[in-house]
Amino acid sequence: MRTQVAIVGAGPSGLLLSQLLHVHGIDSIVLERRSRAYVLARVRAGVLEQGTADIVRRAGAATRMDAEGIVHGGVGISCGDRRIRIDLAGHTGRTVLVYGQTELTRDLVEKREALGGKLIFEADVVAIEHVEAGEPSLTFRHGGIERRVVCDFVAGCDGFHGISRNCIPPHVLQVHERIYPFGWLGLLSDTPPVSEELIYVNHERGFALASMRSRARSRYYVQCSLDERVEDWSDERFWAELKTRLPADAAARLETGPSLEKSIAPLRSVVTEPMRHGRLFLAGDAAHIVPPTGAKGLNLAASDVHYLAEAFVGFYGRGDEAALDGYSARCLSRIWKAERFSWWMTSLLHRFPDQTSFDRGVQLAELDYLAQSRHAQAAFAENYVGLPI
Ligand code: APR
Ligand code: PHB
Repeated sequence: MRTQVAIVGAGPSGLLLSQLLHVHGIDSIVLERRSRAYVLARVRAGVLEQGTADIVRRAGAATRMDAEGIVHGGVGISCGDRRIRIDLAGHTGRTVLVYGQTELTRDLVEKREALGGKLIFEADVVAIEHVEAGEPSLTFRHGGIERRVVCDFVAGCDGFHGISRNCIPPHVLQVHERIYPFGWLGLLSDTPPVSEELIYVNHERGFALASMRSRARSRYYVQCSLDERVEDWSDERFWAELKTRLPADAAARLETGPSLEKSIAPLRSVVTEPMRHGRLFLAGDAAHIVPPTGAKGLNLAASDVHYLAEAFVGFYGRGDEAALDGYSARCLSRIWKAERFSWWMTSLLHRFPDQTSFDRGVQLAELDYLAQSRHAQAAFAENYVGLPI
């Protein structure tokens, strides 16, 4: 097989990149280790920055997103009796779109398939070769057979546990990491959300988040410790804990129901650089991880692949390599700012096991400042809706 861009991974990064390249007449093949059903069932976050939604529109995959996505002009933060509403639209003139990553993934898969795109599931990439010089190639296993793809470029969109990052020699690759001493236990249910807008909660028992997928489907999270197992959390225990942490008015409105999905995710911040090595380009979770506070993961993936598609368009259209050369620096400048915001929001809202009374005092002062300062709220809003792409 031969293609212009071989893409490893059919998460949002790989699918969106493939679709953006298609719009510009650039050929790609997407190889995905998991089954189609697995990829379509994965539950992830669901807040799209306006810039991300615009990229999805340019990729021609926005029909359902625009019909079903819910525009949010504000977001709530709660701590004790204090409620802060950040007026996203008022401060920035921009909004966010609540639309599940699961839905976006389905839209992109269906779009690629309808257009006859080469998207191969259960194709495990086991080797990536010759990215430094010559013609890159990928070896993958599919249906018990080993096959090869030869290409001009490899896009490593294979997430945090993928293999493409390992093609960058250890003396070149830098990894910057912070692990947080807690996780998020998430529950999805077909119950109406407690509030029109998301509520991020700093509670003495730990963080909580009230989010949603639609007017009939809610997504909730509570901070948990890393040694907890999802089996220890019956639905009843989850709902009781959530109710304790939610502000009183929201708790009074809470409707409970059976969980459709329940899982624990650890929280970490990771940045790897450079994001390019020869003819290999990393995008999305393959290059960086953010804690989910602030919902930046999918949005960073979208800006990466937007920059990468632009760089390939410059190369194939005008023979211009400048954007390919500048890809890593361009992405990282945006990534570090989203990393900073996600880290800051995580630090502001969680209960840290080793937190001293001093640390708690600083946290409360920060929340007090956010509640009282228009400037602090504007800075929050600017970051939450997404910095310019
Ligand atoms: N061969 C083929 N596919 C692979 C391989 C491999 N060797 N290794 C990993 N993959 C696939 C995974 O099975 C997964 O489907 O790569 C895909 C990576 O997808 P994601 O993990 O979703 O990463 P990304 O597309 O960058 O998405 C970023 O989505 O994952 C969330 O939290 C993340 O919101 C962020 C956004
Ligand atoms: C979600 O809806 O899953 C969600 C929303 C906002 C976040 C994280 C997750 O910050």
